[in-house]
Amino acid sequence: MRFRPGFYNTLYRLKVAPWDTGCRPVLTELVDAGRLTPADYPAVADLGCGTGAESVYLASKGFDPVVGVDFSPVAIRRATARAEAAGVAHRCHFYQADLTAPEVPGMTRTFDLICDFGVVDDTEQEDREAAVRLIHRISRPGSVVLIWAFQGDKSKKRWPATIAPMLAPGEEKALFGECFDIEYLPTRPNTLMLWMTRRTQ
Ligand SMILES: C[S@@+](CC[C@H](N)C(=O)[O-])C[C@H]1O[C@@H](n2cnc3c(N)ncnc32)[C@H](O)[C@@H]1O
Repeated sequence: MRFRPGFYNTLYRLKVAPWDTGCRPVLTELVDAGRLTPADYPAVADLGCGTGAESVYLASKGFDPVVGVDFSPVAIRRATARAEAAGVAHRCHFYQADLTAPEVPGMTRTFDLICDFGVVDDTEQEDREAAVRLIHRISRPGSVVLIWAFQGDKSKKRWPATIAPMLAPGEEKALFGECFDIEYLPTRPNTLMLWMTRRTQ
């Protein structure tokens, strides 16, 4: 299945997107623990930023600039409004764009911190390859990439494999292992939470 903007627009419009419940706790925990600081990781890319909960949270903690990209216009409108309401619009830059396109607005530089909460796993085949290429393009040695993803064996045909594209077991090593050190953070079953530090150009 190829998820397109209309699918996400509908979920956002109906306010039934199951992930759209505020900033992901793993991010607040990493910031609270002092592991993610604006001094060490000032420039942030939020890939598939949705309605901007993570972007706005990071901007409110002093990360600057925070560049969010999502191909859902509904999500981008809400993210922009959220940043304005929180008084951090000057730090947040939101773009409506497809992350799998050869050129992506706002993604024309490297970032210290790259967040991908639920995007790479929503892609398949050439879209996934394009998203992974983007992550390589906008990172440099020392950049940290946080990835949250569904992971499982699709051949088992059990939930959530039946509805979500997801990453195959070990696929993260094939996609990123050559250039990144991969640390596995605690997360719930059938999901992956990665802290990846880029080590090579
Ligand atoms: C599972 S949601 C997660 C949203 C947000 N990161 C969060 O954690 O709340 C995936 C998001 O990625 C966006 N997305 C999926 N594929 C995309 C693509 N090819 N280009 C840009 N955005 C995409 C969707 O519109 C959606 O907002």
